[in-house]
Amino acid sequence: MKFAKIVGLGKHLPPKKLTNSDLEQMVDTSDEWIFTRTGIKERRIAEKGVSASRLAEEAARIALKRAGLKAGQIDVIIFATITPDSQFPSSACYLQDALKARRAAAFDISAACAGFVYGITTAWQFIAGGLYKNALVVGSEVLSTITDWDDRSTCVLFGDGAGAAVLTESSSAGVLGSYLGADGHEADLLKLPAGGSRIPASHESLEQKLHTIQMKGNELFRFAVRVMVDAAHQAMGQAGIQSGDIALLVPHQANTRIIDAVSKRLQLPREKVYVNIDKYGNMSSASSAVALCEAWEEERIGKDDIVVLDAFGGGLVWGSTVIRWTE
Ligand code: UT7
Repeated sequence: MKFAKIVGLGKHLPPKKLTNSDLEQMVDTSDEWIFTRTGIKERRIAEKGVSASRLAEEAARIALKRAGLKAGQIDVIIFATITPDSQFPSSACYLQDALKARRAAAFDISAACAGFVYGITTAWQFIAGGLYKNALVVGSEVLSTITDWDDRSTCVLFGDGAGAAVLTESSSAGVLGSYLGADGHEADLLKLPAGGSRIPASHESLEQKLHTIQMKGNELFRFAVRVMVDAAHQAMGQAGIQSGDIALLVPHQANTRIIDAVSKRLQLPREKVYVNIDKYGNMSSASSAVALCEAWEEERIGKDDIVVLDAFGGGLVWGSTVIRWTE
């Protein structure tokens, strides 16, 4: 069994901001409601035609530079997204071409907001098993393209962005443990119903807005807290660490009230929990990726720190990864 560590992080957020006061002009909502219920102040929106792979390319270039690796040295690209460039080819293949990462295998994974954790875990296992040496994992979303801008219960929540991480084989353990979970029985709580083989695109599917996010927020909230706490405990158990060893929890950014409830149950004080939802809203797979990158950029993570990723999303899926920072 070989070890893997993260050697480069990058992020890219489209420049255009959509504030809560902008949303007040679009639907029946208020800055006060959005901020107190979710913690969100503003989010980023990609320009028309900017795809998930395009956002990811910017983030990946930064991560590769920081890792000191050329794109040609990457063995595999794992692209987490629920807003792929197209059904196929995968966004990973578009990214492989844009980066000229010619020898990289490339594929997408669909694990919604837990996509980055699923991706990091997959990359870790590829490296640990000896198949690959260098992996690029991205979480990239253009959620603005699947948002119903007339539905105040969802349109205030989501934003666009991308984050990337380069993992490489190492002589000591960076990734210490990981846990992934799923419950397809609860798929109806959060979904984009049409556009696949179950409900192919049609005039009816468009009229019924079945190509936009549908969510039962209240039920998800309770589920999220329970499974995020459980996932973190499972991953910590596998890594052989306790809550007190954690230097920073980097949770999925869906709602500050979810983050607070999870942190409390994990007995972590606020200063050990990274939150940036106020600036970006919920970016699904990109949330954890961007949060991890920003936490590192802001020097909230230092050498030998134990960092825990913890995420949850549509599927339903969830997961947590424990990392010892080696740089
Ligand atoms: O990324 C992973 C997946 N996402 C999640 O895990 C999200 C989890 N859920 C949540 O974060 C929260 O449930 C929400 C933020 C989505 C909603 O917060 P809530 O406290 O659960 O509100 P609610 O859905 O129970 O709605 C409360 C009230 C309702 O009005 P009535 O029925 O009490 O009169 C809604 O119609 O708030 C109303 N409401 C709004 N009011 C102003 C819903 N959306 C809005 C809005 N502005 N944007």
